[in-house]
Amino acid sequence: MSTQHEQQAEATLTRLETVQSATEVEAIRVEALGKAGWISALMKTLGGMSPDERQVQAPRIQALRARVADAIEAKKAALEAAELEARLASETLDLTLPAPTTPKGSVHPVSQVMDELAEIFADLGFAVATGPEIEDDWYNFTALNMPESHPARAMHDTFYFPDTAPKGGRMLLRTHTSPVQIRSMVEQGAPIRIIAPGRVYRSDSDATHTPMFHQIEGLVIDRDIHLGHLKWTLETFLKAFFETDDIVLRLRPSYFPFTEPSVEVDVGFRWDNGKRVLGGSGDAEGHGWMELLGSGMVNRRVIEYAGLDPDEWQGFAFGVGVDRLAMLKYGMDDLRAFFDGDGRWLAHYGFSGLDQPTLSAGIGAGA
Ligand code: PHE
Repeated sequence: MSTQHEQQAEATLTRLETVQSATEVEAIRVEALGKAGWISALMKTLGGMSPDERQVQAPRIQALRARVADAIEAKKAALEAAELEARLASETLDLTLPAPTTPKGSVHPVSQVMDELAEIFADLGFAVATGPEIEDDWYNFTALNMPESHPARAMHDTFYFPDTAPKGGRMLLRTHTSPVQIRSMVEQGAPIRIIAPGRVYRSDSDATHTPMFHQIEGLVIDRDIHLGHLKWTLETFLKAFFETDDIVLRLRPSYFPFTEPSVEVDVGFRWDNGKRVLGGSGDAEGHGWMELLGSGMVNRRVIEYAGLDPDEWQGFAFGVGVDRLAMLKYGMDDLRAFFDGDGRWLAHYGFSGLDQPTLSAGIGAGA
């Protein structure tokens, strides 16, 4: 190393003092310390030196390299700090401005309806249970009496992951909230009284179907539970939710692998200016029946899968679309708009954060 190198180092440090931008600092770094940089070339000369010479030169070259490298780092840090300083100075927030007259932000109808449902069922002694959205094939299908090759599986348009599930099959996005039935029974045993609201996923999309939607599951397991308990519970819940005693239900025999017998529940409505309004028997003139939810007595095999004795424990279960309940109660007609995040839609259909549903004040928001 010569004094010429010392001078070159000094020149580099002087230049560094004057540069103003990170790109210029980077150019200097590449010039000196990059693969083809002059300090890197200087380091390489060490290999061709005699051991004596190297003993003298190595510390000098290392020291020169360190001085330049440290100066570059310091300059970078200083430029970054200055940049942050400038941003903080320009991005001010004037806390003395008055609050907006109309508050921004609202509670999504789905959240509001879920709160309403939790309130109604809490009053009937139901706890809220949850389960994972990324679910094991066993909980979503097998334990619900849908073994592999069961034709009902095909109806679910399932999103699968490539990963193998711990309990066999593949991991998937749950297609319904029913796996929470199994998880709750396995974890808590019996008796049990829960609702399980949450997101579910099916590969399906049109005005009334979106790939993600919301369901609420209900499960009661106890001794001597029968269909009458199911019917009373659904009637009580729907009257409280729609805030009217004029709710007429029609129970139709149906089929779900996890309930036996299975019951499809329709609710009567009448046409009013091209809109459906709940109330009255669907058989009356100008009326109709609308399919509302699936339910039934929990299949013995499901109780067994969950590790309970079906001779001792019986129960009922139901599953409802939360988005659909919200549409019926609050009058939206396109499900897709629920998930567009359009500020105008949210401003129109959203709820105030202060509108907490309570039974005493009336379940409906803004009541
Ligand atoms: N899981 C069913 C569905 O998504 C609904 C259901 C739940 C039916 C519980 C019966 C009992 O369609």
